[in-house]
Amino acid sequence: MADRIAEEKIDRIRQTVDIVEIISDYVQLKKQGRNYFGLCPFHGESTPSFSVSPDKQIFHCFGCGAGGNVFSFLMELEGISFQEAAIKLASKVNIDLEINLSAAHGEKKVSKEFQAMHDAHELLQKFYHHLLVNTKEGQHALEYLLERGFTRESIDKFQIGYSLNSWDFVYKFLSKRDFSPEWLEKAGLIIRRERDGNYFDRFRDRIMFPIHDRNGKTIAFSGRSLGHDEPKYLNSPETAIFNKSKILYNYHLARPSIKKMQHAVLFEGFADCIAADRSGVENGIATMGTSLTDEHIALLRQSVQSVTICYDSDKAGIEAAFRAGNHLNNAGFQIKVAMMADGLDPDEYIKKKGPEKFRNEVIGASLTWMAFKFLYFRRGKNLQIEGDRLAYIEVIIKEISKLDKAVERDHYLRQLAAEFSLSLDALNQQQKQMFFAEKRASAGKKEPVNKPVLIAKQVNKLKPAHITAERRLIAHMLKNRDVAYKVQDLLAGQMFNNDEHQAIITYLLGFYEEHEEPDSSAFLTYIQDGNLRRMVANIEMMSINDELSNQELTDYIKQVLNYPKLLKIKEKEVELKEAELQGEFSRAAEIGNEINQLRKSL
Ligand code: CTP
Ligand code: MN
Repeated sequence: MADRIAEEKIDRIRQTVDIVEIISDYVQLKKQGRNYFGLCPFHGESTPSFSVSPDKQIFHCFGCGAGGNVFSFLMELEGISFQEAAIKLASKVNIDLEINLSAAHGEKKVSKEFQAMHDAHELLQKFYHHLLVNTKEGQHALEYLLERGFTRESIDKFQIGYSLNSWDFVYKFLSKRDFSPEWLEKAGLIIRRERDGNYFDRFRDRIMFPIHDRNGKTIAFSGRSLGHDEPKYLNSPETAIFNKSKILYNYHLARPSIKKMQHAVLFEGFADCIAADRSGVENGIATMGTSLTDEHIALLRQSVQSVTICYDSDKAGIEAAFRAGNHLNNAGFQIKVAMMADGLDPDEYIKKKGPEKFRNEVIGASLTWMAFKFLYFRRGKNLQIEGDRLAYIEVIIKEISKLDKAVERDHYLRQLAAEFSLSLDALNQQQKQMFFAEKRASAGKKEPVNKPVLIAKQVNKLKPAHITAERRLIAHMLKNRDVAYKVQDLLAGQMFNNDEHQAIITYLLGFYEEHEEPDSSAFLTYIQDGNLRRMVANIEMMSINDELSNQELTDYIKQVLNYPKLLKIKEKEVELKEAELQGEFSRAAEIGNEINQLRKSL
């Protein structure tokens, strides 16, 4: 078996795989004309500037400049090598690569140890589960769970288990199976005691919840104490395979229904997530005891744009929901917030009132983001008191003025007017004042926008004529091999003025030596440089005429050829001024002549 993937296999993958299908696993795409658009997975944005061309099998983001073909998409998004991306794609379309996979995965040693960490988790998960459901030692734990309302079905589905009340059971169990203690320690499963160097188990006498990554691999555990032992939940430490701020509990199981329903429910804890699942809410996910991070949002965004936040309805939970909601709202998500009476958490609510009420009266009756804010800002205020009432109205108008849609603004202003018997006109007027005051205030400040967006937009705006001409020529050369050679002839040895453009056409002519036909995606693999690749993807997405008329062609070539001359003329004009100032009239005349010659040659 070979260690490297054969070129022809790569070609077959490229021809078989559809970029729209692959990217749809990560980005919600909508068709618009010939291309698809969605929110870019490479940077935070709330209006779609990420586009995918099925004809060319490439993607490009007009916001941050990311771009490439299906291989580079996976490489950049998942942080994997070209080989790994190829392996992933090949398995999707059932192409046998006929290679030695372990060699293809790069550094052998590292992957072997990662593999051992995964295997140890997998094995322990099974064993913990067995202890819980089949043994006398686990019986009290099973009773605790059943008493709390967990069903046998969900104990199996979530592979919940029990860790023995022993200091070294796991250590011995795994050492016997040739797992090295150092790596078990690095995996967070055992701990080395400073005093004598002995190892002991991290989890003892706890209910074990396995944590999975997006592919369903077990990468960590969270162990809940049975009684009132502290901490209530003991988590695996951060390891090479587990990073809390990137993991959403239940993501791998919930993903199909999240995609189907185009909606996710976000919980604070996994007890809630499991209870909800038992009640028929299968699109639930939970953070792992941290607040919602940018990484969580990026992961969510790959499947969904609409989320119901279902946090505890106590004070801390409502504050956390407000923070998570703002975070999601800024990232362009549609948000709802589910609330429960009496400060309950979802798990307690379900136990008390049943699954049906939870589905209909909590999830089904969740508030819009704005309606939640109406409630949020009302807390701690006594609206019978004039001062509190005015303060409240002012905050709400401010929130309303942040809404983009006039219809929504009108809706909430009417609601406010009705509740406090105010005139709609007055509210409208105040809302406008606030809107413009806010605008003036933020105009002074630096805009907290994503840098790449800003840069890419500016670059797009400020292109001088010769650069545009070069880009248009490249666009036509990418589409048509004959045009590529024709342009090369017309340039008669002169280079493109932009170095990157010149590099691209050098690559392109090399590509055409080997390929009879243009192929956007294949060309992107051919280019080794990531920066050039993004640039090509950007040029590919420019709209140009199908045919390049002779008139157009000559115009562009002229722009390219004239630019160095125009620079030269500018230079000479400076020299001319200088000569005149120095009183060197004959030199001035000479320079004037040269300038005239140059002008004529334009
Ligand atoms: N958590 C944690 N460490 C703790 C307490 C909580 O990591 N000492 C995390 C867990 O991921 C937990 C989430 O925070 O799922 C929510 O905590 P909490 O609301 O206190 O727990 P519940 O989900 O209500 O769990 P239970 O019903 O078992 O008490
Ligand atoms: Mn709880």
